[in-house]
Amino acid sequence: MLKKVFGSAVFGVEATTVTVEVNTDSGVGYHLVGLPDNAIKESNFRIAAALQNNGYRIPGKKIIINMSPADLRKEGSAYDLTLAIGILASSSQIKADDLERYLIMGELSLDGTLQPIKGALPIAVKAREEGFKGFILPKENAKEAAIVDNLEVYGIENIKQVINFFDKGEPLEQTIINTREEFEKNLNYPEFDFCDVRGQESIKRCMEIAAAGGHNIILIGPPGAGKTMLAKRLPSILPPMTLHEALETTKIHSVVGRTKDTGLMAQRPFRSPHHTISNVALVGGGSYPQPGEISLSHNGVLFLDELPEFKREVLEVMRQPLEDREVTISRAKFTVTYPSSFMLVASMNPSPGGYFNDPNAPVTSSPAEMQRYLSKISGPLLDRIDIHIEVTPVPFDKLSDDRKGETSVEIRKRVTEARDIQTKRFADSDTVHYNAQMNTKQIRNYCVLDDASKQLLKTAMERLNLSARAYDRILKVSRTIADLEGAEAINGSHISEAIQYRSMDREGWLG
Ligand SMILES: Nc1ncnc2c1ncn2[C@@H]1O[C@H](COP(=O)(O)OP(=O)(O)OP(=O)(O)O)[C@@H](O)[C@H]1O
Ligand SMILES: [Mg+2]
Repeated sequence: MLKKVFGSAVFGVEATTVTVEVNTDSGVGYHLVGLPDNAIKESNFRIAAALQNNGYRIPGKKIIINMSPADLRKEGSAYDLTLAIGILASSSQIKADDLERYLIMGELSLDGTLQPIKGALPIAVKAREEGFKGFILPKENAKEAAIVDNLEVYGIENIKQVINFFDKGEPLEQTIINTREEFEKNLNYPEFDFCDVRGQESIKRCMEIAAAGGHNIILIGPPGAGKTMLAKRLPSILPPMTLHEALETTKIHSVVGRTKDTGLMAQRPFRSPHHTISNVALVGGGSYPQPGEISLSHNGVLFLDELPEFKREVLEVMRQPLEDREVTISRAKFTVTYPSSFMLVASMNPSPGGYFNDPNAPVTSSPAEMQRYLSKISGPLLDRIDIHIEVTPVPFDKLSDDRKGETSVEIRKRVTEARDIQTKRFADSDTVHYNAQMNTKQIRNYCVLDDASKQLLKTAMERLNLSARAYDRILKVSRTIADLEGAEAINGSHISEAIQYRSMDREGWLG
């Protein structure tokens, strides 16, 4: 008998429904066709054991399984359950009249319990779009799938439950999530707060500006100055995610299977990969493409601690996605795109020894060592960082001060107000939402300077020997500083503050 069951394949952050046709006939043999990978080909062993342990079996007949669309590569072990139910139905071991109204997925253990799958959220989105009644999947993934409304989601632990559901009409427990409520519940506050940072008022101000305009930022300072501590607190002052952003980010994490039991991610991600990371792990890719760290940071912060320690080529591959806010991975047979709109926060010591121009430094580096160290990050990458700030350690009396600083909630309020101004400003644009994203034309439109400010900027550029690339960055950052003040026009004080944040452009820093 011929039976149809449905599964799904995920490419990028989108899913495609896969039709699995199972035909059981007299004869012998087990044939699986339609571009399955090895994990799927091996599934018959897992399925055989899982069925046997639950009182069923793969019949000793000729079984042909066809997975379509045939040109779409199907991978992984998530089709075990789909195939198993298809075989049972096709060999009339179970009644399954309703089979075609459900999408069924999950990896089987030998005893029939289910292991989680990847991409449950994109799969659920597609299932609803295509009018499926329900989605049956492993319990661990049920919450993320249930974010999608108008689709019945059934999280199950064992194949036996699915068998009894179709064969005997035994009900399954439906996972129901109120997406809005779940979102609000998960919005609770990030664990790191700016009130823990003593002193460092000017750096905090800088981070507030970075957050307000979405500017990439680099913190430069000796060991122990607090760079890592400050960077970790950035997500706490970014405006709360919108529901739309939360869905986008959750989808990406769902694809790599990192959303187990979380449901909807409502907090901005903070990713901090180690400097030994490979190109693929950072930007995504691989023979079975997976999103990399830059996409896992989508709508949040990517922190590259000790920037010059990263391999130069790894930093190079990040340039394009930084500009485009998405990354496209091309292989001979397919192309996938992952969103990657993140704020880059980098940190570095000013020299390989950790210190620069510091008479009390315990180690000093030779000019050649300095050059080698800094050359890794010079040029194009630095070009995409709007704000450079030097962090000096706070003196002991400030560190031991018991007074708490301003909390992240208070800072975030100002940031959010400045963002609201930008949202209105760029309301007509699909791609630009905050100041850091402005293109040349928008800079000319929205960063108009009066004559005095123009003169000030000109003088500073000449006197401090600022490079041409600094010019647009200064204008963008000035715009954000003005927005934080609620000022319509950029004035001299906004400009002069922005100029201070270009320390690495000054002569003597990078050769
Ligand atoms: N301003 C500060 N307020 C409170 N604690 C601080 C401050 N600055 C530094 N510290 C303390 O010093 C520790 C070291 O700071 P952190 O690790 O952020 O330094 P770093 O600049 O990243 O150093 P490294 O270059 O060695 O990575 C922090 O964990 C924190 O406890
Ligand atoms: Mg550090």
